[in-house]
Amino acid sequence: MASSRPQTRRGESEVFFEVYDDQEDGSSIDEREGPDTNSQGGYRSDPEIENSDGSDDTPDEAVQDDIEKFKNTFKGIAQRFRLINRIGEGTFSTVYKAEDLLYDNYDNQWDIEQKDVSKWAPPPLKRRRMGDGPMPPTRAHSRNQKPKYVAIKKIYVTSSPIRTQNELELLHDLRGCDSVCPLITAFRYQDQVVAVLPYFKHMDFRDYFRDMTVADIRLYFRSLFTALAAVHKHNILHRDIKPTNFLYDIRKGRGVLVDFGLAEKEGTDCTPCICRDTQSERREKVLNALALTGQQPSTGYPKNDPRPSRRANRAGTRGFRAPEVLLKCTDQTTKIDIWSSGVILLTILSRRFPFFNSADDIEALIEIATIFGSRRMKACANLHGAIFETTIPTIGEKGFHLEKIILWATNRSGKNEHGEEEKLPSDEVQAVKFLQRCFELDPQKRISAEEALRHEFLAEVGEDGDYDEVKML
Ligand SMILES: Nc1ncnc2c1ncn2[C@@H]1O[C@H](COP(=O)(O)OP(=O)(O)OP(=O)(O)O)[C@@H](O)[C@H]1O
Ligand SMILES: [Mg+2]
Ligand SMILES: [Zn+2]
Repeated sequence: MASSRPQTRRGESEVFFEVYDDQEDGSSIDEREGPDTNSQGGYRSDPEIENSDGSDDTPDEAVQDDIEKFKNTFKGIAQRFRLINRIGEGTFSTVYKAEDLLYDNYDNQWDIEQKDVSKWAPPPLKRRRMGDGPMPPTRAHSRNQKPKYVAIKKIYVTSSPIRTQNELELLHDLRGCDSVCPLITAFRYQDQVVAVLPYFKHMDFRDYFRDMTVADIRLYFRSLFTALAAVHKHNILHRDIKPTNFLYDIRKGRGVLVDFGLAEKEGTDCTPCICRDTQSERREKVLNALALTGQQPSTGYPKNDPRPSRRANRAGTRGFRAPEVLLKCTDQTTKIDIWSSGVILLTILSRRFPFFNSADDIEALIEIATIFGSRRMKACANLHGAIFETTIPTIGEKGFHLEKIILWATNRSGKNEHGEEEKLPSDEVQAVKFLQRCFELDPQKRISAEEALRHEFLAEVGEDGDYDEVKML
């Protein structure tokens, strides 16, 4: 039997990583030591999290091979989980849908659904200890209960150990936060790490975003901003807000935020940027810098800046990066996630995905400048001590109003039957006003997640979700 050594997390009594000694024979990972090593910290009991409609349950041959390989290289995983299908493949990980075979071995106090079931069924087994004999092959079939599904995120070895640890620690910090997919537990075997999350049934964004009504959009963003408010309250920047990282069930109007692989605590790797100063302080600093470099202040800022190039965190996904990320602001805040959420909203309102489609950061700045105009873009660059200058003819000084862009993108930019310019209906106008608050170029002026939940666009969404119905009552 393998020796197992639970590893506690920085002075906490709770087991965070479950570590298995890989030097031993083929013993399974469920055979671990001690009655107090219950790391199954609890995942939410919502039925939509645990149930499956079976749509993800048929792997093709290549995926089957991949699953076999995973089972063979991650010793013990097959005894603990029944791997069903591959449901995601990202830059840093592969995600599998699986059934939690040992669900009954944990004291799942938190599970309301399970409590209901247990009124009619024998009580669940207590946590198994070493030497208790073999485990049953499945739990669902043996008990006639609904299987408990999980998402197993296999984090690639190539992903740095610090990055992996960071993702797990932040997820751990965020346990219990509304609309954030919680970490159940994590396993390490040799140099591989897997994170176990509740499986959240959701639909592919591309399959529904074009058909969303304004009421659907309100619900979507209420759920997303609830998650962001919780994350930001912990001073955590997600850094990669995009549709594939917000798993949404449009029928239920509920979503969960996943993928904290790029997330970080505010202030990590951060050096002061003049964007935090007042306008006059900023001006003074720029003039002092110019004096030091011998530049003339006539143009405002030096064109040939002899200072070393700036290093800043640019993590994120093309098309979703905030201007301050593109401009290499060295003091980025949680507001970068608000910008990315704005990009999702613009995508939905314009019915175009991806909306921004740049190959690199320069192109991305050009795309943003085309909308906001060169005047505002210059001011935005200056805010972070950078310069924006362009001679590209498509970038006008004033840019375009977001309402115009949405009308144009949805083929409503002509005249109506009365010969008048088409206008957006009032609910979409309200959505655009909200979007403008997410798209403030100055992060300090940009709306926060908490404020967003109080904005008229999101504040009046009813519990059952339908804003329009609530209004009519
Ligand atoms: N809890 C979950 N329930 C259901 N599906 C999930 C869950 N977690 C992740 N997935 C699926 O797996 C995909 C990838 O997950 P995640 O974003 O965490 O991994 P990643 O490797 O960081 O991805 P990427 O590099 O593409 O952003 C998600 O977009 C989603 O489709
Ligand atoms: Mg992802
Ligand atoms: Zn800045």
